[in-house]
Amino acid sequence: MPDKKKFYQMDLNERLQVLREVSTLNEEELATFNQQGGLSAEQADLMIENVVGVYGLPLGIAQHFVINGRAVLVPMAVEEPSVVAAASYMAKLVQAGGGFTAKAKAQEMIGQLQVLNVKDIPAAQKALLSAKEEIMVLAAEADPMLVSLGGGPKDMEIRIIKDSLLGSFMVLHLIIDVRDAMGANAVNTTLERVSPLVEHITGGRVLLRIISNLADRRLAKAACTIPVETLAFEQYSGEDVRDRIIEAWAFAAADPYRAATHNKGIMNGVDAVVIASGNDWRAVEAGAHAYAARSGHYTSLSTWSVDEKGNLHGELEMPMAVGIVGGATRVHPTARAVLKLMGVQKASDLAEIIVSVGLAQNLGALRALATEGIQRGHMALHARQVAVAAGAPPEKVAALAEQLVKEGNIRMERAIAILNEWSEQ
Ligand code: MEV
Repeated sequence: MPDKKKFYQMDLNERLQVLREVSTLNEEELATFNQQGGLSAEQADLMIENVVGVYGLPLGIAQHFVINGRAVLVPMAVEEPSVVAAASYMAKLVQAGGGFTAKAKAQEMIGQLQVLNVKDIPAAQKALLSAKEEIMVLAAEADPMLVSLGGGPKDMEIRIIKDSLLGSFMVLHLIIDVRDAMGANAVNTTLERVSPLVEHITGGRVLLRIISNLADRRLAKAACTIPVETLAFEQYSGEDVRDRIIEAWAFAAADPYRAATHNKGIMNGVDAVVIASGNDWRAVEAGAHAYAARSGHYTSLSTWSVDEKGNLHGELEMPMAVGIVGGATRVHPTARAVLKLMGVQKASDLAEIIVSVGLAQNLGALRALATEGIQRGHMALHARQVAVAAGAPPEKVAALAEQLVKEGNIRMERAIAILNEWSEQ
C-alpha cells in the first residue's frame, strides 16, 4: 500500500486503483464492486423467486491481515460502522505478533435421517450397523463427482433420541466430506437416496432428511498472540489492556447474557466475509450458536489468556460451513471477485480467513469495551452516516461529521442546520 495516503483516507476510485495494483483482479472483476458491475437484477431473477431487484450492502476491505504467513485483503459486506475499521486495526496489532495462525479441519458435514415407528430399536440399530457397507455404497452413488474428488460419504452413526414428545426414536447420521462445497445440496440429495433403504432395513418410517447446521465436524480454528506492549494506548499500559480484555472475556465465559453479545461481535466479522463470499450466513450463524451451547451452557466461542511471556493470546474455534463452489459463490459476480481477491483456493482457505476475522473482531470489541467504551469510535462513524442522511455532498461529509462530533450533538436537525449555515457563508 502507498504510504502517503492511508487506504481509509482514499476515495472510492483511489481504493479501487490500489486493488488494481496489488491484486490480480481484471477490470471486469473490479467492476463487480460497483453498483453497475455487481449482481444484475436479471442474474438475481435466476437465483430466487419473485425478484423485483437487488439489495445493496457496503463492501469494505479489511487491511493488515496476515493469516498463516500470507497477507490477505479481506472484503467484508456489512452495514454497521466500525466493523471494518476495528478488524483492520486489530489485524495490525496481531501482525506485530506474527499474524494469525488458522486451521480448518475436515470438510465434513452431518446429514440427519429421522427414523420413526421402529418397533424394536436395538434390533434395528444392529441391522443398520450390519448394513453399513450397503448404505455407504448407495450413498456414494448420489454424487459420483464428489467421490471422484476424494469426498463423499465417510461414516455413519446411529443415535437414539430418548424422552422426546414422540417417545424414543432413531436418528441416522451420515457423515459426508463435501470438499469445497457448502454441502447442503450434496448432503440432502444423499439422504434422500438412502432413505428407502433405511426404511427397509429398520421397518420404520423416515420423516426428515436434512443436513445439520451444527457442523461440529467442520470446525475452523484461529489463534493469535499480541505482544503486550502493542496493546498500550493513551493512559492504558499494555498489561492493563491485556488484563481488562481477559476480564471482559471471563464475563462472557460465565454468563449467557453477555456471551450472546460477545459472540455477536465475533459474528460481525464472520458474517461480513461469509456474505461477501456469497455463502449462507444463516447456516454459519446457526452452527456458531449451537456450538456455543454444546456443553448445555451457552458460552463464549473464543478464549483469551496470558501466555508464558505475558503476551495476550486469543483463540476462536467454531463450525465453518462455507464453500467456494456452487450456489451464490459461483453465480454472484462480486462473490467470485471476492474469492479471487482473497486468493482462496479451497473452502478450507476461506474458513481460515473467516475465523481469523471473527477473532480480530472479538479483540476489537473487547479492547474498546474494556477501556474507553465503544461509543467514541462508533459516534465518529455514526456522524458520517448522519451527515450523509442530512444531504451533505460527498466533499462535505467528513467536515460535517467532525463538526457534529466536536459539538457532541450528532443529530439530523443539527446536521441540516450546519449545512444551511455553510451554504449561507
Ligand atoms: C456490536 O455490534 C458488537 C459488540 O456489542 C460486541 C461485544 O459486546 O463484544 C460491541
